[in-house]
Amino acid sequence: MERILIVDDNEEFVEDTLLGLRRHYECHWAETGEVGLERMSSVEPDLVLLDYDLGEGASGLDILRRLVSEHPDVPVIMVTKESGVRTIVRAMKQGAFDYVVKNTSREDFLDVIRKGLALRQVKQENVWLRRRLQESLGQMIGDSPAIRRVKQEIREAAATDLSVLITGETGTGKTMIARMIHEASGRRQQAFVEVNVSAIERELFNSEVFGHEKGSFTGAVGTKRGLTELAHRGTLFLDEIGDMDPQAQIKLLTAIESGLIRRVGSLKDIQVDFRLVAATHQALEERIRQGLMRQDLFYRINQQRIRIPPLRERADDLPALLRYFLHKHFPGRTGLELAPGTLDVLAEQAWPGNVREFESAVQLAVVRCGEGPLSAAHFNLGGQAVRTPAQEADYSLLTDRPFAEARDVLLDQLRRAYVERFVTGDVSVKDAAEQIGISREVLHRWMKDLEQDS
Ligand SMILES: Nc1ncnc2c1ncn2[C@@H]1O[C@H](COP(=O)(O)OP(=O)(O)OP(=O)(O)O)[C@@H](O)[C@H]1O
Ligand SMILES: [Mg+2]
Repeated sequence: MERILIVDDNEEFVEDTLLGLRRHYECHWAETGEVGLERMSSVEPDLVLLDYDLGEGASGLDILRRLVSEHPDVPVIMVTKESGVRTIVRAMKQGAFDYVVKNTSREDFLDVIRKGLALRQVKQENVWLRRRLQESLGQMIGDSPAIRRVKQEIREAAATDLSVLITGETGTGKTMIARMIHEASGRRQQAFVEVNVSAIERELFNSEVFGHEKGSFTGAVGTKRGLTELAHRGTLFLDEIGDMDPQAQIKLLTAIESGLIRRVGSLKDIQVDFRLVAATHQALEERIRQGLMRQDLFYRINQQRIRIPPLRERADDLPALLRYFLHKHFPGRTGLELAPGTLDVLAEQAWPGNVREFESAVQLAVVRCGEGPLSAAHFNLGGQAVRTPAQEADYSLLTDRPFAEARDVLLDQLRRAYVERFVTGDVSVKDAAEQIGISREVLHRWMKDLEQDS
């Protein structure tokens, strides 16, 4: 039951009021303003009814001022004898939520109280959300200007319902940020549905995303709700959106714009309301130019943009990340020393797998260093420093082509080299992905792509 504190020196009025309120609320009474202030902490009311004309002691306005400054989240309703404009204006200016005149009808009285309590709830909710977001942002390590900007962008995204596009290389924290946004948004109590676009078979896309009716195709043994339906009132996170098939893009755009979806094999539209968060490691603008990404869809998902720079561009964050991962994985080893110059060497690295790669590198290094101190030699750096390429490859055959094409060829070769490194050994995909600092899904995709190519 919600609690109301009545601060009034007129016993008769209070008795009268209580008759009307007791059925709905837990009521407490203070006869003077001072007692009222005192009881704020013991009663912890959700709302205060404050008499404007308190007899002795501090005046109603004085008490109002103190209540507003000491308990800003508790709405105060001023109770006045008459509805004099000046009185009311003064009270409202001092921060009263509303006012009631003493001889007002019981219904009106209850109505004002209800509104005040509703406001109270919104205020509490906001306070709670801000605190929660702050906590969750605290788990995002880094204080470089880039990360500070990203955090500000997360705060903004959490406060709206616009679509967000998160871009960054693998392991920079895209998935982590998508979750943070959901958790801090007004939709946090509903589902966060993650769809890895590149992991869904092309033929199954419609049925996965939009659902299907029983018997609509071979294999559709039962009716299945699609991921968009499951995300109703919550957040739909489309990971690797750059890999979406053009046909699927049209369907998705239609669903977003109409708010309606249709299960495969059904004639009925279903209304869905989800907030869209998408992520990609690709340059979508480039894919639009290549005709692989629809511009209209891009505009729909790019209402807000969060760009996370790669780790090598924010070496400032390395000491904090190192400390964080040491503490996370080796909480007992507080005394571990760092050899001089170690951080400088780490800052020189390319870290293609970004924070994910750095985290496993730290774990491995600590195991290797034994008693310590921890030095650059313990990190499996394998000559991948950014500023000292081991040997220059011959690029002359590639430079005849457009840059984007040449880059894709090179990247394919590199991916192939990584995949081939593991197919012969008996390393699991999970371990392999960890070692090279990319996600399992990405490694899966590389393997799949190569299979298709060969
Ligand atoms: N700034 C950071 N502070 C703490 N942990 C981080 C930070 N950035 C990333 N991480 C951690 O690094 C790992 C990789 O992050 P995440 O999975 O969100 O990356 P991603 O960008 O989604 O990668 P991919 O493109 O491979 O899906 C996670 O364990 C995540 O918690
Ligand atoms: Mg991810």
